[in-house]
Amino acid sequence: MIISPSILAANKQHLIEDIQLVESLGVEFIHFDVMDGKFVPNTSYTIEDLDYIVPHHHLINDVHIMVENPYEVGIEFANHGADYVTFHIEATKDEAEVLKIINKLHQLKVKVGISIKPNTSVETILKYLPLIDLILVMSVEPGFGGQKFIESAIDKIKTLRQYIDQNNLSCLIEVDGGINNITGQKCKDAGVDILVAGSYLFGHDDIKERIDSLR
Ligand code: DX5
Ligand code: ZN
Repeated sequence: MIISPSILAANKQHLIEDIQLVESLGVEFIHFDVMDGKFVPNTSYTIEDLDYIVPHHHLINDVHIMVENPYEVGIEFANHGADYVTFHIEATKDEAEVLKIINKLHQLKVKVGISIKPNTSVETILKYLPLIDLILVMSVEPGFGGQKFIESAIDKIKTLRQYIDQNNLSCLIEVDGGINNITGQKCKDAGVDILVAGSYLFGHDDIKERIDSLR
């Protein structure tokens, strides 16, 4: 199980220390949320923040862009050290745009993810799975940390697992929102590859045990 701690819940006063702490505890990814205040009613990390953290850790930079203009923003983050750039299908207008974003990001040598909000069905994105590296299932409405896990994510993960295995694809399945030891276990049983967790991990003295509980 890959763990991707979401630094939305980290302490901005000592962000580097928080990242280095989870790195020392053996996680593989760091989840970096980008919000534009338009696609979601909140703002979060920026390109300057990515520039600031990249030199200080060796984790995979898992960048989740919750923005209205994923093509432009995706290129920017790809050029500033992102390893994965995951954009929202709901922010695109048609298939041509989706393919344009995937191709451009791959040209820039980053891995590409597509994210779906809780009310978006998996069927709408199955056709893209052979073309991408990651599918991110949102298990809360994007925009804020600390929300309650929406159970319908479980069936989406099961459908994706089956489709990916049946078609011999290498796309990873990631889930984001409301992940703790209980909901994480359910996602694991459904076949998820990557658990994103923010408020369950950061700010707790027993963060090591919490990470272990997600594995
Ligand atoms: C929400 C973000 C998540 C958020 C998860 O829009 O995409 O990455 O940090 O936070 P928790 O784990 O607290 O639900
Ligand atoms: Zn996220």
